[in-house]
Amino acid sequence: PTLEAAELERTFIAIKPDGVQRGLISEIIHRFERKGYKLVAIKLLIPSKEFAETHYDDLRGRPFFNGLCDFLSSGPVVAMVWEGQGVIKYGRKLIGATSPHNSEPGTIRGDLAISVGRNIIHGSDGPETAKAEIALWFKPEELVNYTSNAEKWLY
Ligand code: PPS
Repeated sequence: PTLEAAELERTFIAIKPDGVQRGLISEIIHRFERKGYKLVAIKLLIPSKEFAETHYDDLRGRPFFNGLCDFLSSGPVVAMVWEGQGVIKYGRKLIGATSPHNSEPGTIRGDLAISVGRNIIHGSDGPETAKAEIALWFKPEELVNYTSNAEKWLY
């Protein structure tokens, strides 16, 4: 079967400062790669507090907003865009429930994290958010178009 470009979704995934400091970058990338998703953008940066506030804009007013933004801007973050059929929804499934108390074993948070304020990874929660977050974190030319050899065996 051939893969229509329109079937390919993209989502924004970030390894937060705790995931980077704990040495979990390769572990997390491994899980997305192994599933069959394709990495189309990646960079390491320390977001400013202001940038973190823009990223979490819809959470302004929540009691944890300030702490969450301080946390995201406290160290290096791995910002990525992953592509593949159903990657937005299934990426969230790989990540697991927001609070590691509720995330199932086998998920990234279930296997690797303990508390909600240190839940190591962020993933866009829907198509609109994915679009907005990719545009916030990346310039269009930072997204790479390439043919993966694996694709004909995946689709
Ligand atoms: S909510 O309550 O439904 O809006 O929360 P949710 O959409 O699941 O989470 C939004 C982001 O806020 C983070 N979060 C928290 N951080 C610190 N402390 C507490 N109590 C807390 N609750 C939620 C949560 O991890 C989400 O961030 P990302 O980066 O998207 O995971």
